[in-house]
Amino acid sequence: MTKNWQHGFYKRSAQERRNLVKQMCALSDEQFATLENQATSLGDQLVENYVTDYHLPEGLLVGLVVNGREYTMPMVTEEPSVIAAASNGSQRVAQSGGFHASAEPRSLVGQVVLTNIDDYDALATWLSEHEETILTVANDAHPSMKRRGAGAKGLRVRIEPPFLSLDLLVDVSEAMGANSVNTMAEAVGAWLRKQGYTVLTAILSNLATESLQTVTCQVDPAHLATSDMTGPQVARRIALMSDLAQVDVYRAATHNKGIMNGIDALVLASGNDWRAIEAGAHAYAARDGHYRGLATWQVDGDRLVGRLTLPMPVGVVGGSIKTTPQSNTNYQISQIKSAQELAGVIAAAGLAQNLAALRALATSGIQAGHMKLQYRSLALSVGATIAEVPRLTKRLAQLSHVDRQVASDILAQIRKETNDGRREN
Ligand code: MEV
Repeated sequence: MTKNWQHGFYKRSAQERRNLVKQMCALSDEQFATLENQATSLGDQLVENYVTDYHLPEGLLVGLVVNGREYTMPMVTEEPSVIAAASNGSQRVAQSGGFHASAEPRSLVGQVVLTNIDDYDALATWLSEHEETILTVANDAHPSMKRRGAGAKGLRVRIEPPFLSLDLLVDVSEAMGANSVNTMAEAVGAWLRKQGYTVLTAILSNLATESLQTVTCQVDPAHLATSDMTGPQVARRIALMSDLAQVDVYRAATHNKGIMNGIDALVLASGNDWRAIEAGAHAYAARDGHYRGLATWQVDGDRLVGRLTLPMPVGVVGGSIKTTPQSNTNYQISQIKSAQELAGVIAAAGLAQNLAALRALATSGIQAGHMKLQYRSLALSVGATIAEVPRLTKRLAQLSHVDRQVASDILAQIRKETNDGRREN
C-alpha cells in the first residue's frame, strides 16, 4: 500500500513531486532548497519518481603507476580516508616500480536456466550439438555487436539439479554489456522454449569469472618503514595480516571492504555499475566455499609481493557511462581509453588501498590517521561552518575521547571565544 499522496507519484513532474514532498514530509525551506538546487533534468530522465540528485565528493587518486604509466584517477566517495589511503598506497608502490596489470580476454556470462529435466546428460549433449545454432540465435538478437567482431562466442553447461544452466559467453568489447547479454540470453531462452524445454530464467551473471583482472606489485620494504618499525618488520606484519584474511572470515570481510573502498570509488567515477562489481568480488572471494581476502601479500626475498585477482567486467561505453557530464569529464581526466586499461587501473587502486590499510593496521593502527579525517566530517555534522572546521578539528585532535557531544560543546566554546574576542575589539 502506498500513502495517499504517493498514488500516481511516477506520473507527476519532478517539480510537483518536490512540492508534494515538502508539504507531506514537512521540509524546512532550507531542506526544500537543497532538493531544488540539486535537481537536474538528466536525473529526471534516468530514474523513476525522481526528486533531485544526491551529491557525493569527488577527489583525485594521484601517483598510481600501472604498467609503467602514471594515472590521475577520479574517485567518488563520502568516506574521508579513502582517497588519502589510495594515494598513499599508490605512491609507496610507485617508488618500487608500480603495479603490473595483466591483459586477458574478457567475456560476460549470460545464464539461461532450464528445469523440469528428465536426463541431464542427454540435454547437455543436445545443447552442445546445437551450439552453432544457439550462438546464431544469440548474435541475431544483437547484430551490431557481431558487426563489431564481438558477440556470443561460446557455451558452457553447468548442472545443479533440478537446474541446468546454459552459460552464454559473450565478448562485449568496450561496453559494460549487461543489457546486451540480457537481450541475447532472453532470445536463447525463447528459442529453447520453442524447442519444448522449460526455461526458468535468462539473465546476466555478476560472477564474471571470464573477466578476471590480476594486478601484482613488488614493494621494497624500505618504503614501508614507520618511526617505530623497520621496513622489513612492517613487511612481515603485512604478510601476517594477509594470512589472517585467508583463514578468518571476520577479518576477510573487512580486508575486502577496504579493497572495495578504493574499487567502488573508481567504478562509480567511471560511470560503471558498482553493485555489479561488488557482487562479483564477494562471490569470487568465496569461490572455494570459504570466504577469503581477495588481495594477498607475501615476503619474497627482499620484496613484499602483493597480488589481487577479481572479476572486473567494466566498460568504457554504453549503459550510464559518459551519460552524466561528470562521468564524461572523468574520462578526460583519466585519459583511459579501453575497458582493459580501466579494469587494470581499478584493480591496482584496490591493491594500493589494501596496502595502505594493512600498513596502518600492522603498525600504529587505523584510528590515528582515520580520526584526523573523520574529525572534519564530525565538525561539519555538528554544524561547524567551513571557516570553523580547521579550528574545531585541531582542538578535537588534542583530546583522548571525541564524540558528537564533545564536538558540539567545543564548537559552542569556539563561537563564544570568537564573540567575546569581537566584543573586546
Ligand atoms: C575502513 O573503511 C576500511 C578498513 O577497515 C580496511 C581494513 O581493515 O583492511 C581500514
